[in-house]
Amino acid sequence: MQIGPYKLSTPLLVAPMAGVTDRPFRTLCLRMGAGMAVSEMMSSNPRVWQSEKSLRRMDHAGETGIRSVQIAGADPELMAEAARFNVDQGAQIIDINMGCPAKKVNKKMAGSALLQYPQLVQEIVSAVVKAVTVPVTLKIRTGWDPDHRNGVHIARIAQECGIQALAVHGRTRACMYRGEAEYDTIRAIKQAVSIPVIANGDIDSPEKARFVLDYTGADAIMIGRAAQGRPWIFREIRHYLEQGTHPVPLHKDLEQAMIREHVDALHAFYGEVMGVRIARKHVGWYLKDSDAGRDFRSDFNAINEPELQLDSLQQYFANIA
Ligand SMILES: Cc1cc2nc3c(=O)[nH]c(=O)nc-3n(C[C@H](O)[C@H](O)[C@H](O)COP(=O)(O)O)c2cc1C
Repeated sequence: MQIGPYKLSTPLLVAPMAGVTDRPFRTLCLRMGAGMAVSEMMSSNPRVWQSEKSLRRMDHAGETGIRSVQIAGADPELMAEAARFNVDQGAQIIDINMGCPAKKVNKKMAGSALLQYPQLVQEIVSAVVKAVTVPVTLKIRTGWDPDHRNGVHIARIAQECGIQALAVHGRTRACMYRGEAEYDTIRAIKQAVSIPVIANGDIDSPEKARFVLDYTGADAIMIGRAAQGRPWIFREIRHYLEQGTHPVPLHKDLEQAMIREHVDALHAFYGEVMGVRIARKHVGWYLKDSDAGRDFRSDFNAINEPELQLDSLQQYFANIA
């Protein structure tokens, strides 16, 4: 799988997830075998670029892997400006968000709401492609509601305008995250264009990954929610795709060391106050399937100091061993 000059080591991408795919999480997923990780979206509104949140999202210092930065907005000129700005900040690929159904994004008529306006899609995509020399990719849903699955039409527009890879989430905007993702539209899109297509939606196991790749004919797959609290899913899927077998499971000690390293990295990246809060969310995901973990979480969530968070995790792991 190749995007412009960038060759992915494996056709396995981390989906952009605002509030999740920050630099520590992307780094971890890449370490676990993902071929590329798309950053959290950046608004195209220049008024927010100097906010603490945006400055942190733009911070790619020491980032491993290919730096793909997602931008969101509906004004072609502002999107072009945002693309240029993010390339100046170190983006090696610009990804355009037309997949997000979030109200915050759609109220401003961006994200997947744009799929209703193919002419505007064309204007935005053309403006961004012309604005930068790096590859531009696009992320869409299959349409805006089940009666209007215009993904194939949008994909053709994207290809004509110079988009170099297209990620498709197998739901419409109206579906939000309900029901099951469908892969027929992704398959139809793959057959309609020659640019690489990345299939996304509900991929949560090695077998599902194999099935979606085979069924859609897509060049790669993208995984979002299944990686929350389970970044080693990339290792499992990669091994299965390459060898056709399941790898030996990660040793519990390694898994636990990784969770502590992740929490430590969050403290370093966000600082004490924010780092502690964000670590609670990730630890919640890591422990969600364990009864002991559920009891431990209420104690963990009451801790406000980074060192104490790490100590209590250590203690918890020692207790369950
Ligand atoms: C918490 C969260 C935040 C998300 N943020 C974005 C975003 O910023 N940009 C985007 O294109 N998609 C976003 N998505 C959608 C995901 O990229 C992905 O398309 C979706 O979750 C379906 O894939 P999955 O079933 O593997 O999770 C988000 C999803 C979640 C759950």
